[in-house]
Amino acid sequence: MLRMTDRATMKAVTFQGYGPPETLAIRDVPLPMPGVGEVRVQVHASTVTRTDTATMRGHPFFARAATGFCRPKMPTPGIDFAGIIDALGAGVTGFAPGDRVFGLSPDSYGTHAEHLCLRADAAIAPVPAGLRFDQAVVGEGAWYAHGTTSQLDPGQRCLIYGASGGIGTAAVQLAKLRGAEVTAVVGARHLDLAAQLGADRVVNYEAEDFTALGQTFDLVFDAVGKTSWFACRPLLTPDAIFAATDLGPGWSNVLLGAWFARSARPRVQIPFPKDASGFVRSLGGLLAEGRFRGVFDRRYPFDDVVEAFRYVETGQKTGIVGLTVRPEEATGGDGAG
Ligand SMILES: NC(=O)c1ccc[n+]([C@@H]2O[C@H](COP(=O)([O-])OP(=O)(O)OC[C@H]3O[C@@H](n4cnc5c(N)ncnc54)[C@H](OP(=O)(O)O)[C@@H]3O)[C@@H](O)[C@H]2O)c1
Repeated sequence: MLRMTDRATMKAVTFQGYGPPETLAIRDVPLPMPGVGEVRVQVHASTVTRTDTATMRGHPFFARAATGFCRPKMPTPGIDFAGIIDALGAGVTGFAPGDRVFGLSPDSYGTHAEHLCLRADAAIAPVPAGLRFDQAVVGEGAWYAHGTTSQLDPGQRCLIYGASGGIGTAAVQLAKLRGAEVTAVVGARHLDLAAQLGADRVVNYEAEDFTALGQTFDLVFDAVGKTSWFACRPLLTPDAIFAATDLGPGWSNVLLGAWFARSARPRVQIPFPKDASGFVRSLGGLLAEGRFRGVFDRRYPFDDVVEAFRYVETGQKTGIVGLTVRPEEATGGDGAG
């Protein structure tokens, strides 16, 4: 049996100050022990996301209220995880050692490590049968997308700008699952992908002015932080929502959001998703039924984590970038990704 006094260690990505990818290093750190009500997961797969790169940089500055002003409070990044439960704290029911699980750690991060402890009632769910760990780490972008697409009603018209990124690829699928009619705006290299994800109409922003489609939408979602409410005004019905992942030029999304908050229906939003645990459970169901799939750009081995952060920072990834913490033999996964 493992005891605290064994001084066991694990490998974890750590950063001791904010900065570029070179700030990151894989170090030996104490193996975490699950507390009351917690499980410990032996992590096999994670992702590197734009949230991870922003956390590494400490940008935007106000976000340091959560992550630490002068130095990171949470020294190991990473939000998505999939792996095997290898220890239980006191009082845990519903999970057993050996369970294959996936989920999110949006508050304390720490998934870029060989092990992770989190509450058993947190955002954690069984990996759907037939899915490899590296196919199950699809939650972070989907959760952010859900914060916006969950506002759609069946039959509503929705435009997703930047539908090729981690959030955008999820948003197209989740909007379709809500019964919306989806127009996806992407660059030329992603036209086929957007159609395969279910978009009813695909627009190439490199060849066409997407703000001059001659059509209006109930929801316009800037899923990549590259447009603005001002540019999209011709697309908006009088009651439309303009939602964005980013602050907007000159913090316009924040300022307009505050301005419109006086109205009955806030019209400019940076939706922050809630209820990660409920979302992960429902995502597990969608994955199991084959109604949602992660779009994977590439996967990096754990030792190449700095390279992975560098690539994600280019803003050019398609969907998700995986991080393989502990390689898994193929287990008859469904071939997604
Ligand atoms: N609100 C939050 O809490 C939160 C959380 C996470 C992320 N974010 C933000 O959300 C945004 C999206 O994150 P993500 O991970 O989904 O992004 P991402 O995966 O890095 O997005 C990259 C994709 O965007 C496309 N793209 C680049 N420039 C574009 C443009 N001008 N117009 C349309 N598409 C363009 C790229 O393809 P092409 O260049 O070929 O078009 C690429 O496929 C980021 O800005 C991030 O900072 C916010």
